[in-house]
Amino acid sequence: MKVLVTGGCGYIGSHTVVDLLNDGYEVIIVDNLSNSKIEVLDKIKKITGKSVTFYQYDLCDKEKLESVFAKEKIDAVIHFAGLKAVGESVQKPLMYYENNLFSTINLLEMMQKYKVYKIVFSSSATVYGSPKSLPIKEDFPLSTTNPYGTTKLMIENILTDLYKADNSFDITILRYFNPIGAHKSGLLGEDPNGIPNNLMPYIVKVATGDLPILSIFGDDYDTEDGTGVRDYIHVCDLSYGHVLALKNPQNGLKIYNLGTGKGTSVLELVTMFEKVNNVKVNRQIAKRREGDIASCYASNEKAHKELGFTCKYTLEDMCKDSYNYVKKNTNL
Ligand code: NAD
Ligand code: WQD
Repeated sequence: MKVLVTGGCGYIGSHTVVDLLNDGYEVIIVDNLSNSKIEVLDKIKKITGKSVTFYQYDLCDKEKLESVFAKEKIDAVIHFAGLKAVGESVQKPLMYYENNLFSTINLLEMMQKYKVYKIVFSSSATVYGSPKSLPIKEDFPLSTTNPYGTTKLMIENILTDLYKADNSFDITILRYFNPIGAHKSGLLGEDPNGIPNNLMPYIVKVATGDLPILSIFGDDYDTEDGTGVRDYIHVCDLSYGHVLALKNPQNGLKIYNLGTGKGTSVLELVTMFEKVNNVKVNRQIAKRREGDIASCYASNEKAHKELGFTCKYTLEDMCKDSYNYVKKNTNL
């Protein structure tokens, strides 16, 4: 089975490509490398011993995208490609709407034209806005607070409308919670350029001495220790969820949360990181970050029941693997 992976050179995409190759799938990647590096392809080969076919194309370029569909006999698509920085999306909303929506519409048009009906789409827990209760279930009301999140919700709506109009489509929407961690080999992982926005990349940069101190955004939330609670999931558990989604015999439009089902506070994560890596993370309490919610964690029951989704990795693994990746890739 030949799978087109858009954004396959990125953080979650590259881990998923490894799982697909290990599972015997053939992989085609389309990525414009706007937020990833070509070296990822060699690393994927080093881990799996297998090669992928790569096109450095922008999905917004419809002609180039069509050339891929015309040449390759694609059976299914996993669509990771997109811009994902919440803060940047507030500053540059048009860039986010253009990139995330045009690319997806082009992709879906090509799928329809070439009769490729199976798609797995990367959505996000951000579509739940501020949840009314916890854990969050797939049928909770949806709302967003920033343009990035709105692109995810709009794409979910596009997919829903498309399925209503043409139910040859077989669509899986995966709502990820907070992916962290890295491949055990230390070859694949996440190391954003500049100052990170997300917690784990920030912790790692403080631990390596690249940044002086972590600001903990608020210790007065209604949570056990006052700091924000999230559902951190190892990227390798998350990536395997995509293979399970492809194997799911159930057709139609399906939506699943991918999270561990467990909430962890900022302080718990920092403390665990220090313990398992035997390193100090300087920190201070700062004011709340605008737009943040107190707590967010998934009910993963539906994914467990229908996909057989389970999480193998612990919070310790996530902390170890995140640090290991950055240490290996910055020659500390
Ligand atoms: P990433 O930035 O590492 O990967 C995305 C990839 O898409 C990059 O390699 C980038 O170069 C490519 N890309 C972007 N726009 C493109 C375009 N127009 N044409 C071709 N390639 C393009 O991000 P990630 O963390 O691997 O996330 C993958 C997907 O999962 C994204 O859609 C993201 O919104 C979603 N998601 C991520 C998180 C998270 O915390 N990482 C959480 C929920 C959802
Ligand atoms: C986690 C916790 C912060 C940084 C974001 C997106 C979401 C999804 C995942 C794509 C919060 C606290 C953070 C820091 C801190 N991405 N924090 N100091 O906000 O849950 O989700 O990434 O879809 O859409 O919004 O993740 O890692 O930024 O924050 O105290 O320097 O860490 O307040 O409680 P978030 P995060």
